[in-house]
Amino acid sequence: MSSHHITLTRYLIEQQRAGGRIHGQLRLLIEVVARACKTISHAVNKGALGGVLGSAGSQNVQGEVQKKLDLIANEVLIEANEWGGHLAAMASEEMDTIYTVPNRYPQGEYLLMFDPLDGSSNIDVNVSIGTIFSVFKKPEDHAGVTEQDFLQPGRNQVAAGYCVYGPQTTLALTVGDGVALFTLDREQGTFVLTQDQVRIPEDTREFAINMSNQRHWAPPVRRYIDECLQGRDGPRGKDFNMRWVASMVADVHRILMRGGIFMYPWDQREPGKPGKLRLLYEANPMAWLVEQAGGSATNGCQRILDVQPQKLHERVAVMLGSKNEVERVTGYHREAGQTQG
Ligand code: AHG
Ligand code: MN
Ligand code: MN
Repeated sequence: MSSHHITLTRYLIEQQRAGGRIHGQLRLLIEVVARACKTISHAVNKGALGGVLGSAGSQNVQGEVQKKLDLIANEVLIEANEWGGHLAAMASEEMDTIYTVPNRYPQGEYLLMFDPLDGSSNIDVNVSIGTIFSVFKKPEDHAGVTEQDFLQPGRNQVAAGYCVYGPQTTLALTVGDGVALFTLDREQGTFVLTQDQVRIPEDTREFAINMSNQRHWAPPVRRYIDECLQGRDGPRGKDFNMRWVASMVADVHRILMRGGIFMYPWDQREPGKPGKLRLLYEANPMAWLVEQAGGSATNGCQRILDVQPQKLHERVAVMLGSKNEVERVTGYHREAGQTQG
């Protein structure tokens, strides 16, 4: 192996040295999350041989059927993180309430939020899935930890990332100094830096949206997609391509690598819900990664990172990716007089 290989550990130590961008506890936290992702990656790889496929026969607080791997990944992340002394509490898409670090362990100053297994519908069909995580500092003005402490806007994040379990296992990370990508070297058991300072092209000819919901969309989203579909004969004057993996991690990863726009907008099926995706576990970490790579992320009306969460499992409309496209569709919302995402 070349001596030039930079492992995740070395990357983090260098981030810590460079003007103290990250604290020792945060470095530990990120390493622990990465180790948990390695464990999840091995479980995903075993598939049917490991008995990890299929439904767990339960539902989460959002009424979604839980897969075995949703619960396995959730357990792996909790067990890895609860004893190290770096965390105050965790929150997960798969748990009704926050998980406070048990009294027998020291409490740290960070809060960890995660979608343990993103793209659950793809588990059993061997398509890319992933883990998404987001880290905040616990407010310092009080002892103990409450659900309220988690309700911070995404711009307060101190680290965010995802791990995609695809043909390769790749970890994308930001601590506020651009986006770095690490590929899992299975022989060495380490994440190795394979790309730093990822940039999303500002323009694109590729969009990702679940087209089967078209008839339920609001007018600005319909207008944007209609114009893409008209291709070079329409107002955009160019042909577009469509991709939809149904795993946000895989769609966002593609956008980080070659540009594109990803949308999960509000729709009329459940008008009371702002969208399908969760603000704390999916939208915030992905929005920060995308912004750190030079892209944009809004809910149609507002920067996602400025949305003030009102509750733990809050949902939000998501439009993210190549800057000029996200600004265009956000502009269509503004023109239509839509002021709430
Ligand atoms: P999860 O598996 O964590 O519930 O998330 C699934 C999300 C996201 O990953 C994906 O983009 C979207 O749901 C897919 O939705 P459709 O089923 O509407 O395609
Ligand atoms: Mn998800
Ligand atoms: Mn999930």
